[in-house]
Amino acid sequence: MREGQSKVILRADYQPPAYWIDTVELAFDLDPGKTRVLNRMKVRRNPDVTAQPLRLDGEELNLARVLVNGQGTSFKLEDSQLVLENLPEGHEPFDLEIFTTCAPAKNTKLMGLYVSNDSFFTQCEAEGFRRITYFLDRPDVMASYTVTLRADKARYPVLLSNGNLVEQGALEDGRHFAKWVDPFRKPSYLFALVAGQLVCREQRIAARNGKEHLLQVYVRPGDLDKTEHAMNSLMASVAWDEARFKLPLDLERFMIVATSDFNMGAMENKGLNIFNTKYVLANQATATDTDYSNIESVVGHEYFHNWTGNRVTCRDWFQLSLKEGLTVFRDQEFSQDLAGADSARAVKRIEDVRVLRTAQFPEDAGPMAHPVRPDQYLEINNFYTVTVYEKGAEVVRMMQTLVGREGFAKGMSLYFERHDGHAVTCDDFVQAIADANPESPLAQKLDQFKRWYSQAGTPRLKAAGHFDPVSGIYSLALSQSCAPTPGQAEKLPFVIPIALGLLDANGNELTTGMHVLTDATETLTFPGLTAAPVPSLLRGFSAPVVLDYLYTDTELLTLLAHDADPFNRWEAGQRLATQRALGHIRNESVAPADIRLDHAFIEAMRVILRSDKLDAAFKELVLTLPAETYIAEQLDVVDPQRIHAVREAMREQLAQALFSDWAWAFEAHSENGAYSPDAVSSGRRALAGLALTHLCLAARSSGDSVWPGKALQRFKDASNMTDRFNALAALVTSGHALAAQALQRFHAMFKDEALVLDKWFALQAGAPDRGGNILPVVKQLMNHADFTLRNPNRARSVIFSYCSGNPGAFHRADAAGYVYWSDRVIELDTVNPQVAARLARALDRWKKLAEPLRGAAREAIARVAAKPDLSNDVREVVSRALAD
Ligand code: TRP
Ligand code: ZN
Repeated sequence: MREGQSKVILRADYQPPAYWIDTVELAFDLDPGKTRVLNRMKVRRNPDVTAQPLRLDGEELNLARVLVNGQGTSFKLEDSQLVLENLPEGHEPFDLEIFTTCAPAKNTKLMGLYVSNDSFFTQCEAEGFRRITYFLDRPDVMASYTVTLRADKARYPVLLSNGNLVEQGALEDGRHFAKWVDPFRKPSYLFALVAGQLVCREQRIAARNGKEHLLQVYVRPGDLDKTEHAMNSLMASVAWDEARFKLPLDLERFMIVATSDFNMGAMENKGLNIFNTKYVLANQATATDTDYSNIESVVGHEYFHNWTGNRVTCRDWFQLSLKEGLTVFRDQEFSQDLAGADSARAVKRIEDVRVLRTAQFPEDAGPMAHPVRPDQYLEINNFYTVTVYEKGAEVVRMMQTLVGREGFAKGMSLYFERHDGHAVTCDDFVQAIADANPESPLAQKLDQFKRWYSQAGTPRLKAAGHFDPVSGIYSLALSQSCAPTPGQAEKLPFVIPIALGLLDANGNELTTGMHVLTDATETLTFPGLTAAPVPSLLRGFSAPVVLDYLYTDTELLTLLAHDADPFNRWEAGQRLATQRALGHIRNESVAPADIRLDHAFIEAMRVILRSDKLDAAFKELVLTLPAETYIAEQLDVVDPQRIHAVREAMREQLAQALFSDWAWAFEAHSENGAYSPDAVSSGRRALAGLALTHLCLAARSSGDSVWPGKALQRFKDASNMTDRFNALAALVTSGHALAAQALQRFHAMFKDEALVLDKWFALQAGAPDRGGNILPVVKQLMNHADFTLRNPNRARSVIFSYCSGNPGAFHRADAAGYVYWSDRVIELDTVNPQVAARLARALDRWKKLAEPLRGAAREAIARVAAKPDLSNDVREVVSRALAD
């Protein structure tokens, strides 16, 4: 039996802890097979809570000794808790000493203390500290930590923990020690240690007040030449938080350490951030522009947590978005500010909205739907979601929209004034922003605004315009609704900020403004017009809603050509494409190969591609058709293979119809000088890459081999990974015969670069299916000598790229994709439940599938659910999927 099974935790059940832990002294004797952990705490009863036993969390620990004030004591072990009943009366602190051992080398869950490449790492968020020692492992218990690490000096020369290094030296038998003191109180989830053979890039910086700080990026020997960009990103993050929010670095020393075995992106442990190598290591030969920009975001994200998350933390895990939504918002703003030009900011905004709509909207409409502040969970790891992160960030963004940029900065100051050093709630955050801006619509509609935290589901905003030529009045009828989600049948109206503009038929802007919709229905009137305007609604995606407005093609073409808001220009292009895709998907009498795109659409795309006013990055976004998962969400019944076939057919048509334009675009954007990952040159590379893909696609039907040949040449000659990988992807995506030798060559070139091999695996598992060939490829890839299920990045590169990233290949009529999925979920669950549960979510939307897929998917989920001894992680996902 697994430990601690199946207790649903409710937000409503929150109780303050019965005890406080003021100080923790930890001493580790690090050994992969058996690490000894001595934990000495100062504990006292919480005077505000009635007396009760002390219940400490612990998992997979061997308990050797418990002493209270130096004396042995009675204790019980119950449901993975250590229960102490005979504790000193009164409210004076007492000493509690606990001695345990654990086995880091056997820790495949990568939660708690584990070994990766013969180094030690920890991951404690959310509930990993209990796998290191017995503790009150909850974020509202904040303590001061002193940590002593002891280990073999030759094998583990670097010994790191949170805070400042106060002592180090040699021990007997070739061992050594290091002692670290963290000057800040913190919850246990922010504890970290690292030990191993690591090298670091260092940088000393002076803050505005003249104080010196030491920044370090630790990696394995040999990776030092891939740390410059992470260090630059870190320095930019420090400068940005000071400039934008007046939040300084509060530590003498700030460390980042990279590990190749990591469940998520990175972790904001106080002063000792631990990162997935994917979000640290980059040089131009191994990393793409996307990697560079992800590194910038994630380094920023974890650094910004130092204030939003660490200085002010969460009272309980239901408040996760307090730190995550806010910190995603901050990292998005950071990247926008670094991008500089307005058009580059818009590109970043479009990318963020694309993530929200392709990943979060489906979550909000599926069995795992939950509010930004969830009400219950079985396993908290399952709630590190796009809803908590990305929708949470949108909610914070709306606050900024409602109080203004300056007002928001004022609100942040008040938040830290009130709550620095404390564990608080989402309500506390909204209250601070509102109190700093009492006249704002946020303050006036505060309770209603908070529904964004309590109600799940994506609201639909309906808009319909009517122009009366006699009075010259244009009226815009607005209404909002939100479909039921599991456990929430009725929804009350949201506060929806709607940024809008009206254009005349020639695309000139007539008026612009912001309306805050609060009622279920409202009508706006605009007098003094001479003709019906074209409404540009929800500019900049001012609220995370679905906008229903029956745009005509003429209106969309006007917006695409002229809207002053770049987001809505892009959006108009996406709507034109989506409408066409949906039409073709629904019209089953026409085979995908016979689909014809209309002249108007093709010409509009040509004008964008050829424009001399637009940036390459923006063009690339407009000319990329909406994702298959996004199209699927617009349909009630989904046939993923048909969606894929129609989208591919549309791409091939664009490829042929714009052939000479693509050729021009490729040539005109291919020279970028010395490599730099900045917005302008990465935009040029992105457009050249898209062009090359289309040129190879066009060659598919013409049988011409000129462009595939050029792609191969580009692949060989490329001076950076972006161009090289784009060329390889163009060959693989178009299914050209040259792809095989390019793939082989790529593997040979990068066989020692784990992160590049991940790309190699992912590209093949995510390639377009041609006659059912991808599943056999995926199975073959799993037999490759370089494949391992134990490394999350590698497992994701093959299994997730296929099951989640390749719907056209995964949803096979013979259900073999689903059988493969259920086998992998079950297999992964015994190794790493957190990763398994993510994979389990690949079939979240099974109820929308067309038969016979629907029945087959249900069967596969039921097969997983029937397995005894599932982890809480996977069980929660599959049982929610099967619930009605
Ligand atoms: N707090 C981390 C972040 O910055 C998320 C995270 C990293 C995490 N590792 C984890 C969450 C492991 C749960 C489990 O977003
Ligand atoms: Zn975070």
